[in-house]
This record gives sequence, structure tokens and C-alpha cells, in this order.
Amino acid sequence: MTTHIVTGGSAGIGLAIARRMAQDGHDLVLVARNEEKLVMAATQIRALGVNCRTAALDVRDNDAVNQLVDELPEVDGVVNNAAGNFAKPTVELSLNGFRAVVEISLYGTFNFSTALARRLMAEQKSGAICNIITTYAWTGAPRVAHSAAAKAGMLAFTKSVAREWGPDGIRVNAVAPGFVATESAVSNILSAPGAAERMSQMIPLGRFAQAEEIAESVVFLQGDRSAYTTGAVLTVDGGRSLGMSMHQAEPVGT
Ligand code: HXC
Repeated sequence: MTTHIVTGGSAGIGLAIARRMAQDGHDLVLVARNEEKLVMAATQIRALGVNCRTAALDVRDNDAVNQLVDELPEVDGVVNNAAGNFAKPTVELSLNGFRAVVEISLYGTFNFSTALARRLMAEQKSGAICNIITTYAWTGAPRVAHSAAAKAGMLAFTKSVAREWGPDGIRVNAVAPGFVATESAVSNILSAPGAAERMSQMIPLGRFAQAEEIAESVVFLQGDRSAYTTGAVLTVDGGRSLGMSMHQAEPVGT
């Protein structure tokens, strides 16, 4: 069986991904900043019968990422899920706020992807990378321009290194969720009264995703069932990014 790193793996979508991968028998390495949350998450994962290590580090720390990836006994893949985000009118966003979000999402992806690719190439071993972006990587979104810019960068990075590392047997894909009702996403992005209800009315399938529904796509892309898939983006957004119809002054379903 293979070993996969999941960044931001101690909660939300990352933990759901780790659980789903464990159910398929993959060993896991969970990465996040908070040690206590990592310990709790790893206990859940080990209960599913696989090995699970933890690493408390900041994905922005290139040296710490390289050291972790180099020192793992085995590693076959990484899921770049850790993301920075908060909603803010762009003219009010500080340079440091913009930088924090871009560095967590985009630089974090660069750090783990390159560390893994270097190791796999040295070992002449194949592997898989899955980057969690969002649909606003290509639609854009007001008040989260910092996150959209980072996710668009991740999308271009995904396709670029899929082409570059394909000959080395390293596949690189992305999953683009729409809105997923995790605790942190609801409190950070959709805290305004009625916002969650208004948004769900704009989704053809009429509801937000469960984190497990995102995890299902990730486990497919990280495993052998997608052996001929690289540079792909799997959109899992209930149809939201397909756009509004001419008649959509009325909510979907009416
Ligand atoms: C305005 C904020 C802010 C906020 C942080 N900053 N939170 N500005 N509003 N709510 C600013 C700070 O003021 C500071 O700038 C800069 O960001 C760095 O903040 P720090 O506190 O130093 O912490 P740091 O750890 O570097 O980063 C903060 C953070 C990060 C970016 C907020 O902790 C984080 O992203 N946490 C949330 C993680 C999360 O929820 N991820 C899931 C996202 S869900 P100044 O100028 O003051 O120094 C998602 C899906 C959306 O993305 C999909 C929808 C379809």
C-alpha cells in the first residue's frame, strides 16, 4: 500500500480526505500547524487500521517541508489541501493578509510538490499529487481575491508540472470543490445572516457539498484507478460554476 501526505489534514476537508484514503488502505501523514488537533485526527485514522504519522509544521516553511519529505520512510503522494482564507473587500486587504493567503495555499503547494517530486525522481518511483483548488480559480470571486489568485496559481501550477513530471511517472491533478459546509469555511466565509441559504439556492443540486464527497474524488485521483489521468481538474460543485441561466432570477428548483 502507498503513503500519502495530506496537508491541512487535521480537520475539515483534509481530515475527510485522510479518512477516505485510510478506508482504501493507504497509510497517511497528516500535516497541520496545531499539534493537539493532529493527535486527535491521527487517532481517528489509526482506528481505521492504517499507519498514520503527524507533522506539526507550517506549509510555508520550505526547509521544514523538505526535511519532513526527505525523512519519511516511504512516501508516494501528497494532497495539497491546506488553505488560507477569509473574506475581505480587496481594497481593505493588507499586503500581509494577501501574502499570508497566497503563501499558505500556493507556496505551500509548491513546497510539498517539489519536495515530493525530487524524492520520487531520486528513487525512480511513480507518485501522485492532488491539489485542492476551488471553482473560483477560473470564475474569480469578490471579497476573496487573495484566495482566488492563489487557487488560480495552483491550477496553472498543476497543469504545468503535470506536463513536466509526466515522463517521470508523477501524476498531478486538481479537485475543485464549490462550497463545502465545513465549520471553518462557514465561520470564515459565510458568516453573514442568510448568506448560506442564498448561496445554496444558486447551486443546481440545491445544497453544499459534504467533505466526504470531495474526498471521494481525491481518493480516485490519488489511486491506480486514475493511472492515465494527469493535469485534470475534477469539479465537485453541484453544478454551481456552470453559471446562471437566462431565467435564473428565480431560485433553482422553482
Ligand atoms: C482581515 C485578516 C484576517 C481577517 C488574518 N488577516 N485574518 N485580515 N480579516 N479575518 C490578516 C492579518 O491581519 C495579517 O495582516 C495577515 O492576515 C496574517 O495574519 P496572521 O494572523 O499573522 O496569521 P497567519 O497564520 O499568517 O494567517 C492567517 C490566516 C490563516 C490567513 C487567516 O490563519 C487562515 O487562513 N486561517 C483559516 C484557514 C481556513 O479556514 N481554511 C479553509 C478555507 S476554506 P496584517 O496586515 O494585520 O499584519 C476555503 C474554501 C472557500 O478557502 C471556497 C468557497 C467556494
